[in-house]
Amino acid sequence: MSSSFEEALEAVSESVQEELVRANTEQEVSQIRITYLGRKGKLTLLLRRLRELPPEEKSRAGELANALKAELERKIEGALVRFYEETKQKSLAQEGIDITLPGTPLPRGRLHPITQVTAQVVDIFTRMGFQVAEGPQVEFDYYNFEALNIPRDHPARDMHDTFYFSEEVLLRTHTSPVQIRVLENQRPPIQIIAPGVVYRRDSDISHTPMFHQVEGFMVDEGISFAHLKGVLTLFIQQMFGEGTCLRFRPSFFPFTEPSAEVDIGCVICGGEGCRVCGGTGWLEILGAGMVDPEVFRTVGYDPEEVTGFAFGMGIERIAMLKFGINDIRLFFTNDLRFLRQF
Ligand code: DAH
Repeated sequence: MSSSFEEALEAVSESVQEELVRANTEQEVSQIRITYLGRKGKLTLLLRRLRELPPEEKSRAGELANALKAELERKIEGALVRFYEETKQKSLAQEGIDITLPGTPLPRGRLHPITQVTAQVVDIFTRMGFQVAEGPQVEFDYYNFEALNIPRDHPARDMHDTFYFSEEVLLRTHTSPVQIRVLENQRPPIQIIAPGVVYRRDSDISHTPMFHQVEGFMVDEGISFAHLKGVLTLFIQQMFGEGTCLRFRPSFFPFTEPSAEVDIGCVICGGEGCRVCGGTGWLEILGAGMVDPEVFRTVGYDPEEVTGFAFGMGIERIAMLKFGINDIRLFFTNDLRFLRQF
């Protein structure tokens, strides 16, 4: 009996080792464990038979059987760990990250041409001592019109196709209301540049319902038209090049007296006359003038004491002339092929 029990143990030991050698996967090894060491496993059943052995054999057989059980458990465990490690190494090799590879390039954005031109305009004027001011885009009729000497029945209101929220509230049609807001809150000497968004009910190749303006003004004792001319000449030459000439044409704005429109020598043909300047050699670029005494009175200044000049221009227009763009809508349709050029 004893020897047959030992032979049975021996047989189990051998077949387990053989099967382990043949096993190719973790699952196959797990199966071997169930077949031999499971609840109804071959070795488990053998161990159960220990009870039937005569007492003098029992202890030695038990020792052998338990030793074998421990050994097989160790071997199976070892095989499982090997397979587990192998699988892990394989998947690590597959998922491997090569940290020396250059990363996926993130496309670098750039500033919108309008932002670029605004920054350049602001830069030129701040170097001349102007300070930046801003006002609300949703504005009162009072600041947008009334205080700028444009009363309700004034024909100049027709020039501004205004978006109204109510009788009193609107989307500002120009940056000139910033003049009033600053004059109300500061005392001369005042030297302000005010860039911003404005709105008009207008849309075609040279108009969009939303666009950008820059307002500039200077108020103090003794400010004259000569200061206006000097400041604008410096600005135009820095913006469009040293040799750019300019001329002042008499014009009308309710908030300036006298008023002028400023033209620059055509940047396309240099004054020869072309399609862009309509053959005149000149391009209209901004409106300007001396602050109207009526405006000063409205904000509580004595026009006998202080004088000032003001000007306003469209940023899109400047950008179009600077970059040779013929359709204003290109600025707002977000076509990357267009925007990437700047
Ligand atoms: N606000 C005017 C417009 O939008 C432009 C303008 C003209 C502004 C003359 C001024 C000025 O400050 O003096 O058409």
